Amino acid sequence: MERKTLGWTGEKISPLILGSWEYGTISIIDEANAVKIIRKAIEMGINAIDTAESYGNGLSEIVIGKAIKQFKREEVFIITKVSIDHLRYDDVLRAAEGSLKRLETNYIDLYLVHWPNHYVPIRETAKAMERLFNEGKIRYIGLSNFSLPLLREFREHLSKTDVAANELHYNLLFRDVEKEVLPYMQKENIPLLAYDSLGLGYLVGRKEVRNEYRWYVLAREAYIRSIESLVNEISLIAKELNKTPAQVVLNWLISKDNVFAIFNTTKEEHLKDNLGSIGWKLGDNELRRIDEAVKRVIIDYFVR
Ligand SMILES: NC(=O)c1ccc[n+]([C@@H]2O[C@H](COP(=O)([O-])OP(=O)(O)OC[C@H]3O[C@@H](n4cnc5c(N)ncnc54)[C@H](OP(=O)(O)O)[C@@H]3O)[C@@H](O)[C@H]2O)c1
Repeated sequence: MERKTLGWTGEKISPLILGSWEYGTISIIDEANAVKIIRKAIEMGINAIDTAESYGNGLSEIVIGKAIKQFKREEVFIITKVSIDHLRYDDVLRAAEGSLKRLETNYIDLYLVHWPNHYVPIRETAKAMERLFNEGKIRYIGLSNFSLPLLREFREHLSKTDVAANELHYNLLFRDVEKEVLPYMQKENIPLLAYDSLGLGYLVGRKEVRNEYRWYVLAREAYIRSIESLVNEISLIAKELNKTPAQVVLNWLISKDNVFAIFNTTKEEHLKDNLGSIGWKLGDNELRRIDEAVKRVIIDYFVR
């Protein structure tokens, strides 16, 4: 499968990254099936997996550790994250040890700070991350959900290495990152790992809402209604190109310089489908039609 260069690191990874929050959530998928899907994804050429200590309280990392045992360690690029409440110096070191143990490995490829914590000085977290880097426990340091000013500040506190990625909310509808952080990252050759790439599936026609809270269901239903015309346009474009909606939505992201798309699925057929987003490019006409359809969408802030 095609590989894409992970910014300044020079690492070659798949443009699609397998997300794994769901694999730590038993109500969504059981362990045996999660292991099966992860192995299938790797066999099909996806060599990067995104997880976090917080996903299923460590369960997602445990499942990944089990799934990747049958592969050579260097065949898989593991991305995991330290939680927002573990950003004090000693907590970062402890959290990394926990992740290494659950993943059954002696190094993490890319270790991210999951969310900034305004109560902990950035310098303290950066120093702990750099110690893990110096000790060889992590190969690269990265961030997630860091705005431009915080990303800049974090970089200033690293002396031996640089920030290797920032994982952010980004898809063809939700484009806030394009205002400042993405242009800066592209200029500095820092890759963006996009989560919510399929808009939780709603951008590609998902209608079912999985939650027992009534307010949430109502908000999600309103959201689904407000993006209906965009979903229809994506589906039309896909049909014209002999592609699927998911392939169009993911291609929109991975065609961009230094942007990688994280997606999750519990189904093998969706895995195959998503891989079809690689190796081609949407034309200017389709990109313009998507932009126009996005402009027509009005989403109430509270249902986003
Ligand atoms: N850094 C952060 O703060 C952060 C935040 C959120 C998520 N993440 C990461 O991003 C990963 C992805 O999660 P996400 O929230 O961004 O979700 P997403 O990948 O945008 O959407 C997942 C949904 O899309 C559906 N789907 C997948 N492929 C499909 C296809 N070909 N056709 C139709 N539906 C399809 C899946 O359903 P099926 O199971 O039925 O395929 C699932 O319901 C997480 O697992 C996590 O690793 C990171």
